[in-house]
Amino acid sequence: MGLKACIFDLDGVIVDTAKYHYLAWKKLATMLNINFTEVDNERLKGVSRMASLDIILEIGSIVPDDKTKEEYAALKNKWYLDYINRMMPDEILPGSLEFISELKNAGIKVALGSASKNTPLILERLGIGKLFDAVADGNVVSKAKPDPEVFITAAKLLGVQPEDCVVFEDAVAGVEAALNAGMRCVGIGSEKILKDAHFVVSGLDKMSLRKLKVSAK
Ligand code: G6P
Ligand code: MG
Repeated sequence: MGLKACIFDLDGVIVDTAKYHYLAWKKLATMLNINFTEVDNERLKGVSRMASLDIILEIGSIVPDDKTKEEYAALKNKWYLDYINRMMPDEILPGSLEFISELKNAGIKVALGSASKNTPLILERLGIGKLFDAVADGNVVSKAKPDPEVFITAAKLLGVQPEDCVVFEDAVAGVEAALNAGMRCVGIGSEKILKDAHFVVSGLDKMSLRKLKVSAK
């Protein structure tokens, strides 16, 4: 196992959009009279838009037709975009840019691996599109995490083997996707929730290349 590339999830790792996803889903759930809590929200992290909607509808025991489901998803995305369009570069999570530049200076490649179809817009809003050597997002992959497709695609785009990659993830489904890809995984968040990650830190401000190398031993 080497260390040639780091693949970052976007929402909840590089930028605090996880709260906006939650607020937009909560608004939809309230509209549909579904009791949707922050605990339920953990199941949605890292999960694609339609799969997230399916989880919320299942909580509310509602079975709409496909057209209505498309309308609900579009409504949620509209509310989500209202938040994203007001987002500022200072919403980049602490330590992210510093850690990524430390990696790049050490010759380690960096990629983004996110289920979000809004990835290009978010990168543009934050002015960090050029930071990544490759971007694998919801516009180029079809299988949702915990399927490893997004991370395998990122590794292919970078030209590195999965065993030489480390993934940074805040979602349970994302940690599983990294492990399914045969990659090492650093969990970003709570050790209690991200039990399967090889190593957990509260945020990228607590990460450094030295720690990463030590954790891999
Ligand atoms: C990320 C988030 C999920 C979100 C998914 C799709 O993985 O963690 O909460 O549902 O992206 O995002 P999108 O922007 O395409 O609706
Ligand atoms: Mg995430």
